[in-house]
Amino acid sequence: MLHLDLSNVSQFLPEGWRVREENGLKKAHEYLMEGTGAGSDYIGWVNLPENYDKKEFARIQKAAAKIRSDSKALVVIGIGGSYLGARAVIETVTSNNYNLVRGDNPAIYFAGNGLSADGLSEVIELVKDVDFSVNVISKSGTTTEPAVAFRIFKALLEERYGKEGARERIYATTDAKRGALKGLADKEGYEEFVVPDDVGGRYSVLTAVGLLPIAVAGIDIDALMTGAREEMERLHKPGMDNPAWQYAAARHALYDSGKKIEILAGYEPSFRFFGEWWKQLFGESEGKENKGLYPASVEFTADLHSMGQYIQQGERLMVETVVRFDKNHTKISIPDDPENVDGLNFLSGKQLSFVAEQALRGVTLAHVDGGVPNILVSVDARDEKSLGELIYFFEYSCGVSGYLLGVNPFDQPGVEAYKNNMYALLGKPGYEKQKAELEKRLGC
Ligand code: PA5
Repeated sequence: MLHLDLSNVSQFLPEGWRVREENGLKKAHEYLMEGTGAGSDYIGWVNLPENYDKKEFARIQKAAAKIRSDSKALVVIGIGGSYLGARAVIETVTSNNYNLVRGDNPAIYFAGNGLSADGLSEVIELVKDVDFSVNVISKSGTTTEPAVAFRIFKALLEERYGKEGARERIYATTDAKRGALKGLADKEGYEEFVVPDDVGGRYSVLTAVGLLPIAVAGIDIDALMTGAREEMERLHKPGMDNPAWQYAAARHALYDSGKKIEILAGYEPSFRFFGEWWKQLFGESEGKENKGLYPASVEFTADLHSMGQYIQQGERLMVETVVRFDKNHTKISIPDDPENVDGLNFLSGKQLSFVAEQALRGVTLAHVDGGVPNILVSVDARDEKSLGELIYFFEYSCGVSGYLLGVNPFDQPGVEAYKNNMYALLGKPGYEKQKAELEKRLGC
């Protein structure tokens, strides 16, 4: 079960900080439970772990089984909320080297999350000699990065398997009713999965958006949903002992006291992409109206030898949130060395996990002594159920936090600015005036 430890927070805050947050928390909770807050058209994720479409869930499992039987690789095309959740779960539960250690599971390659020709050609090269399928994921269907990548992989599939064969290998996850990808999928007869209308990209990992690629990787999506559902049941109970209320209250009080950055730290290399998912969740939800903690992430102990210096002694702007997995998958015992050249024989016979635990404890105290409040989130293990708990915990905390901050946690108006400039510079019809203005500024 997920556990929150705020014992290294209170010394950084004025007395009575919890009480001062309580009214805001009650209101934020009500907004989420009753759909009365800003952006309430996008709170379908609140009850999703219970209310998800069971028929579609069964179709996801069936499609995953088919892909696992006829493909050595799955190319997942999507950007932002349309890929980060799947990658976070696949890597955290298995390995950041999933494609190297996957055994009989298909390789999973992510494409369409940037505009690098080198990056895309690498994936094309990787599937050159193997049977593969494509899961194209885009709620709007018009996002440039995945749309360009999909054109390329669709053509590759059609060239290799013919139009009919390609149709059998393309899975489209998109809006139920509208959008360019929906239209194309209907016309071509691709198997379709739905991004629910009321679930935004960054909250969509527990829909088909995340679940299909996750299931293809051989991960138990039933257990993932069970973890999320159990956490949901816990967090839907209002009160100051609700861990999401406590986390949101601490973040908000620390922000008000002058902290401007929240660093998510993990001690497992496989956790890195969970940090990427978390950054999008909080960054897009809170970073608006010139407000919000800037979400960053680090991998310990590796980054203690780089960012550790700044965290210890740089600007005192940070809050650190550590995610710990209580149980270890692997046991490695440190061997004795009769010559003891490195002086480490005091560790002979000790488990590496014991050393890691002492590192976590020592780092926490050092950072707290250096003026960095520390929030500890612990879950049982690096498995599906704990990941379900973590996902729902952070989603729910993020919704509450956004409302505490006084912003709409479910829109992302700032993302449009770059898109509009890019469309104009690329000559998209309708952007002629903006193109002329931008080119003038660029000196073209
Ligand atoms: O959280 C979000 O809404 C965004 O990150 C989107 O997921 C991202 O921009 C991709 O959008 P789409 O799925 O419409 O291609």
